[in-house]
Amino acid sequence: MVSREQVIEALKHVYDPEYKRPVTELNFIKDVMVKEGHVALTFVLTSDDETLKGQYRQDVQEALDNLGIKDVHIRFRLINDFEREEIQAGAGQGQKTAPKKGIPTHAPKPEQAPLLSSDSKLQFIAVASGKGGVGKSTVTVNLAVALARQGKKVGIIDADIYGFSVPDMMGIEERPELINKRIIPVERFGVKVISMGFFVEDNAPIIWRGPMLGKMLRNFFSEVDWGELDYMILDLPPGTGDVALDVHQMIPQSKELIVTTPHATAAFVAARAGAMALHTDHEIIGVVENMAYYVNKDGEKDYIFGRGGGAKLAEELHTDLIAQIPLGAPDNHISEPDFSPSVYKPDTETGKLYLQMADSIISKLG
Ligand SMILES: Nc1ncnc2c1ncn2[C@@H]1O[C@H](COP(=O)(O)OP(=O)(O)OP(=O)(O)O)[C@@H](O)[C@H]1O
Ligand SMILES: [Mg+2]
Repeated sequence: MVSREQVIEALKHVYDPEYKRPVTELNFIKDVMVKEGHVALTFVLTSDDETLKGQYRQDVQEALDNLGIKDVHIRFRLINDFEREEIQAGAGQGQKTAPKKGIPTHAPKPEQAPLLSSDSKLQFIAVASGKGGVGKSTVTVNLAVALARQGKKVGIIDADIYGFSVPDMMGIEERPELINKRIIPVERFGVKVISMGFFVEDNAPIIWRGPMLGKMLRNFFSEVDWGELDYMILDLPPGTGDVALDVHQMIPQSKELIVTTPHATAAFVAARAGAMALHTDHEIIGVVENMAYYVNKDGEKDYIFGRGGGAKLAEELHTDLIAQIPLGAPDNHISEPDFSPSVYKPDTETGKLYLQMADSIISKLG
């Protein structure tokens, strides 16, 4: 199978007209995904020029033809200020990837930890649940993407260190790059992502405990070059056990969203997550009821998992029920350029509900 590295290698003869350097050297090739003979990638442009796009399409197609790849999807986006600064600062010396096995613990010490500095306007939003499998990671990912779609600068820390799932759910196949000895988060759908999943080989089990966990999480804050962000969404480990408690205590003070399903028992269990949030000084800003109903073929709502759990929980926690998300997987296909198993498109019913959720969070938190 063709690898991501082979794709990048094949593109090293493509030059950017403004910087007059190979696009691979400038780190302009992002989000490379190779699946079943399809390649999807993001191409960063220095000018929004249709002729240039056409030229690039042809260059990429020709380069990948030689690898036997016929089907290429290219997303174009304009370079951002951060990337320009990076290039000016002499970074972007090549499309490098951090070694898969490399754990950020071994990365050199950063000069600063701007994310945790007290004057940062950044808002932390932690997503928690009373038990596993209720859709915490789905909510994390879609809320982050929706906030980015509303023009916010957003990051995700997959703080579910043992049960990480965010990279797969977003369809990320890249690994973070190491530039100027700092870890650059992977960007997807405009969201910067860091996850333990980037640093383990082949889904190997992680057996670290206690202090190691803390070290790992702290590195996600301090050794990652997040740039400027408005919101950082944290996907917490499920439940109210030791690991969840440890993580609650390690993260900066956050606003917390509690995810539950509509069943009364689920909401009862979720109340414990609420109690843990309060106990660790995080402020609860709302409840999300996931799998709230199913829209049947007549367009009616069937409440197959029960009804009212989210509202009851919100009342109990003295907060708002900020969204009810229906049952239904995103209608995404592997051959699409923006393929990701768990991200709803903005024009679908669920996609719109997430945009509304983002709006209510923006108006709540400013
Ligand atoms: N509204 C929904 N409709 C249909 N399927 C959903 C919905 N929300 C989540 N799922 C699916 O349910 C499963 C569990 O969701 P997810 O991984 O987001 O839950 P989680 O709470 O993060 O689980 P874990 O405790 O394992 O971290 C996934 O397969 C996900 O795709
Ligand atoms: Mg999860």
